[in-house]
Amino acid sequence: MQRVFSGIQPTGIPHLGNYLGAIRNWVTLQKDHDCFFCLVDMHTLTMPWTPRALREQTLGSTACLLASGIDPTRLYNQSAVSAHARLGWIFDCVSRLGWLNRMTQFKDKAGKHRENHSAGLYVYPNLMAADILAFHATRVPVGDDQRQHLELANDIAQKFNHDMGVDFFPHIDPLIPPHAARVMSLRDGSKKMSKSDPSAQSRLVLTDTADEIAQKIRRAKTDPDALPSEEAGLEGRPEARNLLTIYAAMTDTTLSDVLASFGGQGFGSFKSALADMLVEKLAPVAHETRQLLKNEDHLLHVLRTGAERARSVSEPIVSEAERLVGF
Ligand code: ADP
Ligand code: NA
Repeated sequence: MQRVFSGIQPTGIPHLGNYLGAIRNWVTLQKDHDCFFCLVDMHTLTMPWTPRALREQTLGSTACLLASGIDPTRLYNQSAVSAHARLGWIFDCVSRLGWLNRMTQFKDKAGKHRENHSAGLYVYPNLMAADILAFHATRVPVGDDQRQHLELANDIAQKFNHDMGVDFFPHIDPLIPPHAARVMSLRDGSKKMSKSDPSAQSRLVLTDTADEIAQKIRRAKTDPDALPSEEAGLEGRPEARNLLTIYAAMTDTTLSDVLASFGGQGFGSFKSALADMLVEKLAPVAHETRQLLKNEDHLLHVLRTGAERARSVSEPIVSEAERLVGF
């Protein structure tokens, strides 16, 4: 059975981009893969955080993932398993500054004021490589925004193997969904939907009520033209493309099917169909999340037992990596 690793930051409630880019595929993969799903709380410290919010969001994300159908035995949080930090440090010393300098996510997140950001934000991709390789995972379901980080992880694995003269770390294959791999902000079609976007209107989160979903879709940015019947008509219309892609991905149809049904209509009728569909699919997840959040002990128990399982697999791998470097 192939081993799968994937992570999500507990920096807020998961949004529709996380769901379509990652979580939905996790639920499918866990049926026939050996999966490890991780709340990467160590990555959360790379940007400003508060201890209280981190604790709350760890529980909130756990509830949301369980409500989305993630198997509780496969879920844990990163800081509970020391293999991540130990291999992360080794990889900080294998990875090259020149490689990290090319990472576009760092440039996007740090913006113009690089000097004021944490060193953690800069070496984040090394820790991400360690997250995956501590399990010898070979398949990593992620959104398109993580493609470059996975290439770096393969470079690190190869350099480690080469420098130590071993064939120890496997090659990683990203599993990037063919559609909706990058869901865009509802307010700006040039930015990806993200938990870190200060505008709550920019994203649908998995606990939004029916009213919130309807309102966010109604206010989502569009353009004055009617919907085209063919994909060519979406040229230069990123907001329209994004909403149509969301509709197609959530209903397991193609963009051309959606254009065939809604082409020629204005945004008003399409948006109300989109909102109705999203309410129908997401409201049960929101309801289940609220139920789960009433039982904190259960959520903590899920994370504890998940961490035990994660430790039992990662410990021998990381101990061997430590032996290989000469520790
Ligand atoms: P965020 O950037 O919102 O904080 P994370 O970094 O926690 O999200 O990413 C968790 C998973 O969700 C990753 O696999 C990532 O590729 C995926 N993901 C994040 N944003 C999007 C998006 N807008 N569209 C598709 N997938 C996404
Ligand atoms: Na991200």
